[in-house]
Amino acid sequence: MATKILHISDLHFEAQPETLYPGVNQHLRVAAELLAAEHPDLIIVSGDLTSHGSRNRKELEMARDWLLRLDAPVLAVPGNHDLGANPLRGQEYPETEAYEFLALRKTNYGSVFSPEPVTMHDLPTVAVIGIALREEDPDGALPRLESTLDSVTKPVILVGHYPLAPTRATGPLATFAFHEFIPHTASRLRRVIASHPVVRLYAAGHVHACTAQPLAPHCLQVTAGGLGPGPSLYRVYTISGAQLHFETRFGTGPLGFWEQLVPEFDYAPEYHLGHHHERNGQQTLY
Ligand SMILES: [Fe+2]
Ligand SMILES: [Fe+2]
Repeated sequence: MATKILHISDLHFEAQPETLYPGVNQHLRVAAELLAAEHPDLIIVSGDLTSHGSRNRKELEMARDWLLRLDAPVLAVPGNHDLGANPLRGQEYPETEAYEFLALRKTNYGSVFSPEPVTMHDLPTVAVIGIALREEDPDGALPRLESTLDSVTKPVILVGHYPLAPTRATGPLATFAFHEFIPHTASRLRRVIASHPVVRLYAAGHVHACTAQPLAPHCLQVTAGGLGPGPSLYRVYTISGAQLHFETRFGTGPLGFWEQLVPEFDYAPEYHLGHHHERNGQQTLY
């Protein structure tokens, strides 16, 4: 029997009144019906479940309750809006990326989702591992990840928020990646992936675009759009035998994103929705 995993990202739930992305909660309410109808074995969420979660715990509770209603196991990791990435960003963006000088288990994210920086969901064909990362790794996520990867015998899908390989050569994503968020820690994570061939897929978010790039000879990096604010899509991974097939399906929210944030950037469908080979393809697991 094939294993079916859904990958969603960047939901950006907001407490009322919605200020950053008005209408986002309604897009997510409708998208929930599509996701539930897929009857997946697991749903992975690669961060930014909320817009102000590190400041407002209620938004994380909204995201948690929405996920519970999907009636499938969930593995989530925090994004920079759920768990501030570093103190500098927190100072600069206190409403959306507040930095919590606390142990992970005491942060808003840690108390609503998972107090552990590394989480695992073991499926018959693949191990899915999530990592919560902050700059300088105050939570000890990287050593935990390394020891988990050393002991795992199945192929691994690793879930993190920040893409590690460049996603687009031009436009806003040429500069928007991990650099201002986890500059040093991202290269450490990349080294861990490079030295563990068992990691076959790195499932990320953050860039609000559907992208796919090689991250290491053995590992493909994919990102999954922004289900709430846009581009509203989700990925479906079907694992059968030694192959992971991926395809991309549309949600019901906006199909753009960056043209709203960067006025000089015109909306480009493939920039947001990915080229054909980024939307659909396969990755060998063994
Ligand atoms: Fe986001
Ligand atoms: Fe993000």
